[in-house]
Amino acid sequence: KLKLGVLISGRGSNLQALIDACAVPGFPAEIALVLSNKADAFGLERASKAGIATAVVDHRDHPGDKPAFEAAMDSTLRQAGVELVCLAGFMRLLSPWFVGRWQDSLINIHPSLLPSFKGLHTHERALATGVRFHGCTVHYVRPEMDDGPIIAQAAVPVLPGDDADRLAGRVLEAEHLLYPHAVRLIAEGRARVDGDVVWIDGPAPDLAT
Ligand code: GAR
Repeated sequence: KLKLGVLISGRGSNLQALIDACAVPGFPAEIALVLSNKADAFGLERASKAGIATAVVDHRDHPGDKPAFEAAMDSTLRQAGVELVCLAGFMRLLSPWFVGRWQDSLINIHPSLLPSFKGLHTHERALATGVRFHGCTVHYVRPEMDDGPIIAQAAVPVLPGDDADRLAGRVLEAEHLLYPHAVRLIAEGRARVDGDVVWIDGPAPDLAT
């Protein structure tokens, strides 16, 4: 099984979706470590409850020293035998050094249909722009924020009467299906990075499987 390291900063509902997927017999990945940059992240409790190893590498222990913070994360992940790093609501921008260390072994979930709405407050901005579809993206990480080859996307409609919270909830439900799906594609060796794009081998992907 592919060994995952899941990086979180907070609630961890996407982490929970990955925990639940990995618990299904035959799922081709397992979580080796959950790493948080915040000691009070609720996701750490989710991991402990599931019997998964956790670690905290607090950026505030390395004030003004991003290389030291990232080196600590890097060695913690490698000691745990992590093969694929999954960012799941991890709210620190990673340096080109860290991204390069995990080239094509580092993925992120972002709450928009990239390349639209990079950055924060994606649901507010989708509403303000008047798009009729919104959604989420799992992509390989590149040094530019919210940039990199797209592995999988899910679209949801923007409906009359939506506010940011309601739209966020609809997108989040899609995220919880999409992240395990993308991890499965990678773990099965079906996601081939080719320059700026990812080719998916095999049968047409079905989000529910
Ligand atoms: C998710 O919506 C995720 O897509 C987003 O933060 C939320 C984390 O929720 N990520 C980003 O905005 C990354 N820039 P969770 O902690 O419940 O998974």
